[in-house]
Amino acid sequence: MELGIGLFGLGTVGTGVVKILQQNAPQITERTGANLVVRHAVVHNLNKKRTGFVQDFPITDQPADILNNPDIQIVVEVMGGVSGAYDIIKQAITAKKHVVTANKDLIASHGQELANLANENGVDLYYEAAVAGGIPILRTLATSFTADEITRVAGIINGTSNFILTQMASNGLTYENALALAQEKGFAEADPTNDVAGFDAAYKLIILSNFAFGVQPVLGDVSISGITNLTDLDIEDAQSFGYGIKLLGVAQRVGDSNNAISIEVAPHLVPFDHPLATVHNENNAVLVNGESVGEVMLYGPGAGEMPTANSVLSDLTNVATNYTPGKPFNTFNQNLDLAKPSQRVA
Ligand code: HSE
Repeated sequence: MELGIGLFGLGTVGTGVVKILQQNAPQITERTGANLVVRHAVVHNLNKKRTGFVQDFPITDQPADILNNPDIQIVVEVMGGVSGAYDIIKQAITAKKHVVTANKDLIASHGQELANLANENGVDLYYEAAVAGGIPILRTLATSFTADEITRVAGIINGTSNFILTQMASNGLTYENALALAQEKGFAEADPTNDVAGFDAAYKLIILSNFAFGVQPVLGDVSISGITNLTDLDIEDAQSFGYGIKLLGVAQRVGDSNNAISIEVAPHLVPFDHPLATVHNENNAVLVNGESVGEVMLYGPGAGEMPTANSVLSDLTNVATNYTPGKPFNTFNQNLDLAKPSQRVA
């Protein structure tokens, strides 16, 4: 079976997706039973020089080349931004194409509506790469805690701010130089304000809360402070007392109501001997506390071309393995479909 892919975006993650599809084609086919073929890519800037992969598909700036192509069954959206991506994903779903996206802003703000639409149209909507880059956290939450009650999800879920804090603490870089380096390495969002002011982590925490607690918080539910006001002196002071400073996202059950959670992104003092203190640079880590399991920590690269692309590929191969026209397999759709509004407790 051959499945056609339409790719929106050929930046850091899109390039990684093409590389893995090309380099690992034989094993992907063997393991999924499908040939995954990129039929078209849509980009904003047609003149940009693209390297790192063999370009054996046409590149256009016309979304219709993908959306109206009956030989494309799966749309991969890795271009970012909310409004353009929202329109494209809606049209793709309505055209009965499965969708894989890495877009946390979009899923955090419109995920429920898009999941409903995907269910109505009999297609899958997957977004493993939207949270914690290369760490397979959403699929783990969706499938491995079914019989447990999760009480807290917490962790380092923004690679850029963790990279900046690490470089300031360990290598003496200034905030500005560390941010520039994170941008150069492709970790930072198009607008890095989202990384350093805590919004990127807040979007991810909203999605994590949905999977962990079955609630659908909105951005206004999250108490957010980023790392922009931290100084070299704060970091030095913390170190002299045996602590590192980490930007953490923390969502936890509170009170008796089963949809009451507190949800916060803020810098925290983390003792040097705590596992989160050993998470450096662009790496992320998510702690999951469950009544039965106790505490589990998932650790890995939270940003970057190949790790994030691997998460996109995990979604793509899930679609391919379970591909039955008109019949969605997706557990992600149902998660959002059933979510209750959260009751925020400050
Ligand atoms: N800008 C994000 C980060 C990329 O730094 O974590 C991965 O979501």
